[in-house]
Amino acid sequence: MQTLQALLTQISSTTTLEGLENLRLQVLGKKGLLTQEFSQLKSLEGQVKAQKAQELNQFKEAFTSTHALKKQELQNLALEAKLCAQKIDWSLAHTHLRASFGHPLSHTKDRIIEYFTQLGFKLHLGALIEDEFYNFDALNMPAYHPARDMQDTFYFQDRKLLRTHTSPTQIHALQHQEPPIKMISVGPTFRRDYDTTHTPMFHQVEGLVVDRARRVHFGHLKQVLEDFLHHFFGDVRVRWRSSFFPFTEPSAEADISCVFCEGRGCRVCAHTGWLEVLGSGCVNQRVFENVGVCGVSGYAFGLGIERLAMLTCEINDLRSFFETDLRLLEAF
Ligand code: PHE
Repeated sequence: MQTLQALLTQISSTTTLEGLENLRLQVLGKKGLLTQEFSQLKSLEGQVKAQKAQELNQFKEAFTSTHALKKQELQNLALEAKLCAQKIDWSLAHTHLRASFGHPLSHTKDRIIEYFTQLGFKLHLGALIEDEFYNFDALNMPAYHPARDMQDTFYFQDRKLLRTHTSPTQIHALQHQEPPIKMISVGPTFRRDYDTTHTPMFHQVEGLVVDRARRVHFGHLKQVLEDFLHHFFGDVRVRWRSSFFPFTEPSAEADISCVFCEGRGCRVCAHTGWLEVLGSGCVNQRVFENVGVCGVSGYAFGLGIERLAMLTCEINDLRSFFETDLRLLEAF
């Protein structure tokens, strides 16, 4: 009986459900102490037997209820610990997720669209298949113009082609909308080219602003694009270089101080300290004449999305954007 009492008092100091079950087996199991005591009742008789039986039953009751209470307590603790462990901490970073923010090109494209649409530029959709009129002639690049050789074109029959730049959207906008026009157009363009900095398909953003004559001028272009470059690249210096495009006059290209070496000179900027990022200019009056619009002035610009994404994501092979390698996506 002493051992049984000792086992009963052990219940209170038990801390695990396994320990508790062990105690129960020691007492109430098939070979448990109490079971043995009960079976020994056979050898007793009369008053002694009755007293012993009562004593054992009282003990059994005490043990069972103490055991049940303790079991409940330990089960509650276990449940609480489990709930605590499983509790979702919304403030935790998703370091275990393998999701990326999307393809670097889509991300770059979305950032550009968001910036310009907030400035009131309307997003125009353009067609990928154009004809020579929209891609070249209307943009002041007639059949004999040497600028037509600058772009190696994928031709279909009947003067149809895969657009070599997004500038044909300027012509569609001028034909379909009365100035003032303030639009951007974004999408794929195609040229026969393939090396570390050229792919047959790449993406451009076209911008066009047109209003009554002299309402828009080169100063506006400079301001809008410099603000954009600072928004996009942060603290960089912007340099303007005069350039030539048949559809803009005057024309200018913008460079930013190299984002890799901060202008000190490195391999990426060919040790010049500068990176070319966009082409632009005031719309050539010949373009307006070609579509029969008069008394207006405007400016246009063109950006390469891959170029901007390469610079912000520090990717040095343009082709890797199109190789669907998950490791590249996961890097962002
Ligand atoms: N279309 C030109 C190109 O593909 C870029 C450009 C657009 C330049 C608009 C000036 C104005 O290179």
